[in-house]
Amino acid sequence: MQTYKLIAPAKINLYLEIIGDRPDGYHELVMIVQSIDLADHLEIRPNGTQNFHLICSHPQVPTDETNLAYRAAQLMKQEFSKAFANYGGVDITIDKRIPVAAGLAGGSTDAAGVLVGLNLSWELGLTLPELQQLGQKLGSDVPFCLAGGTVIATGRGEKLDPIEDLENLWVVLAKYKSLEVSTPWAYQTYRKQFGQEYISDRPGVQSRTLKVHSGPLVQAISHKDKTKIGQLLHNDLEKVVLPEHPQVNHLRNILQQSGGLGTMMSGSGPTVFTLCQSQEEAETIKNKAKLVISDPNLEFWVTRLSSTGIKVIS
Ligand code: C5P
Repeated sequence: MQTYKLIAPAKINLYLEIIGDRPDGYHELVMIVQSIDLADHLEIRPNGTQNFHLICSHPQVPTDETNLAYRAAQLMKQEFSKAFANYGGVDITIDKRIPVAAGLAGGSTDAAGVLVGLNLSWELGLTLPELQQLGQKLGSDVPFCLAGGTVIATGRGEKLDPIEDLENLWVVLAKYKSLEVSTPWAYQTYRKQFGQEYISDRPGVQSRTLKVHSGPLVQAISHKDKTKIGQLLHNDLEKVVLPEHPQVNHLRNILQQSGGLGTMMSGSGPTVFTLCQSQEEAETIKNKAKLVISDPNLEFWVTRLSSTGIKVIS
């Protein structure tokens, strides 16, 4: 049995609007999600036992069932018990390059990588939609992470509608190393503060979703109007995360003043990103921001937008 090496890219949200509550306790969202080249590297190696073993380069990442990648393997075992009995367990090694609890879907993309790796390892022949169906049981971002690209994501975030790829743009990401934001906290706080504005009727939710589908940001993306794309970035979760973490708000202001097409927090944060026309521009913005905030706790990445989800490299 073969060992598979995979690349599991992170994502940023170019747009995130919270529309209302769902009967399942989640939020009805409309997002524009974009994969980026910053990625974790995964290896799925048959271990000849009846167990899964998770190894991660990041000391703070758990390697038990609290890790979504581990749960992805357990889900595959549960769904395909015959294949598991035939082929046995695997060692899953994660070379963690995506910051943790950062609003970049690092955990979800690792889980997506495990689904793809085990599909190959156990010769299951599952299609992308079938993998996405499984992926949504693990988390709202997993179906997107499997496919990647530039996508309108609705429902919980699992209903995907691919749009024009935005491959030629670059991005500077910045995050305080020791600062993590809990996604459930961000959504619950948003509900407490803005729940009274939620749209509760089905037609209302659908009409809001359609407005974004035909709205200015999607149009700017299809016309490759980079300036407009930068101006139209939006994230509702900034309304709760930035007041709670003034240093993230400050970082966002500094990045915004340093140039680029537009600056925004990704997902539930606390990573902030600036969209740029070129690698050179991204490096310049990074260096300018570093001069203003010289904090060893602040990390930067310069990376490119990507059109792919999980990639099998060998
Ligand atoms: O789906 P996932 O497990 O990634 O979501 C993490 C948390 O984010 C959920 O437990 C929920 O609190 C919140 N969430 C939400 N509505 C969504 C997606 C996530 O309220 N559509």
